[in-house]
Amino acid sequence: MSSVVTGLECSVCGARISISTPLSWRCPNASTKDRHHVLRFVSDVRPFRPGADENPFLAYRHWLAVDAFGESIGLTEDARIRITTDLNTAIAGVGGVGFHRTPLQRADELSDSLRFSANGGIWVKDETRNVAGSHKARHLMTEMIHLLMAEEAGVAPWSSPAQRPPLAIASCGNAAIAASTIAAAVSWPIAVHVPVAAAHEVVSTLQSLNADIRVCPRVDTDPAGDPCVYRFREVVKSGAIPFGVQGTENAWCLDGGRTIGWEIMEQMDNQVDRIFIQVGGGAFASCVASSMKSVGVHPKLHAVQTEGCAPLSRAWDLALASGGARNAGPRWSSCMWPWESEPHSLADGILDDETYDWIGVLDGMADTGGSPVVAAEMSVVASHRMANELTGIHVSPTGSAGLAGLLEIRENIDDDERVVVVFSGIQR
Ligand SMILES: Cc1ncc(COP(=O)(O)O)c(C=O)c1O
Ligand SMILES: [Zn+2]
Repeated sequence: MSSVVTGLECSVCGARISISTPLSWRCPNASTKDRHHVLRFVSDVRPFRPGADENPFLAYRHWLAVDAFGESIGLTEDARIRITTDLNTAIAGVGGVGFHRTPLQRADELSDSLRFSANGGIWVKDETRNVAGSHKARHLMTEMIHLLMAEEAGVAPWSSPAQRPPLAIASCGNAAIAASTIAAAVSWPIAVHVPVAAAHEVVSTLQSLNADIRVCPRVDTDPAGDPCVYRFREVVKSGAIPFGVQGTENAWCLDGGRTIGWEIMEQMDNQVDRIFIQVGGGAFASCVASSMKSVGVHPKLHAVQTEGCAPLSRAWDLALASGGARNAGPRWSSCMWPWESEPHSLADGILDDETYDWIGVLDGMADTGGSPVVAAEMSVVASHRMANELTGIHVSPTGSAGLAGLLEIRENIDDDERVVVVFSGIQR
């Protein structure tokens, strides 16, 4: 059985790229001046019959674009499976845990305290047990598999591991740790661009993973925006490989992120009414949306931001008023721009001032009858306390922020509904 993914297409300008193109990170029409492009995977819908393998990247192989890529550049099935298996073993060697289906359980105390019936309730997907303590590594796994497959098939611009260009990322949290863990597993050099105020414990974890840490103060010539992103783009321009979790910088992060949605559907036997996903750059929610679509199931998707930074909700309103929430890509400039005031919240991992992957999130909410939710800071604080006290999962405020969205609209949800939240990152 070959993969359901047949190619890539820009959600903004419609440019198409063959699935067999190596290193197809960005739309060919994206430029330094025009960043408003993002590729998505074009795929057929096929009934979901996952394999039995414990590693989701093998169990859901036929739905993953990266498997289609490997096949299209001439790698045998055995070779594709070996690359994924060996990489996962090496990741487990570095991080103590490899990819596996993370636990998903009904949170009984939490469900009772929010007055759900015995038929309904809140199911919590526990990503604190994933590789590097958050869901982020899922996004990066398909970028790395893509690189290793391209290298093995001889279609990468370098010919041996010794000539590999470095990887690069801009992040000061979970994504940086996930990227450095996967890079360390294959001894691939990585430059991690962090802000001056990066947390000490994050920096020491990055050091222990041998990352090349580059602290990025603002320089006078920088326009408004994040200096880490500017330095990251500079090294990418001079040959480094974008190894991050924004679809606009590397679309292949939007492939592996979908494993979480497929796991949820498998573990819930497709019986889900709503799903709440906390949104920063938007890759996470965009992947959950496209995973559901690719297997033909449609629980209502709610994208959750905080009142201290909510550009996605603004984009939803503007898109609805200008032709609808679906296919809003060509309307980027009039719907999505950076949040003007200084973003702030206890959930500090979702304070991206712009939701880069907003198009897929809007499509997902429109397709399922969902909606964005802007959580009051009070709900962010309450959800973090409830999550830790009532589930025993040591989750960060960002990781429990989806629950804040549920608290915010609880009165609109029937007591019998089956609701999923993802505790996406560990409290460090
Ligand atoms: C724990 C956690 N959850 C959710 C998110 C949001 O993901 P995205 O930026 O893809 O929207 C982040 C991003 O940093 C995160 O660290
Ligand atoms: Zn484009």
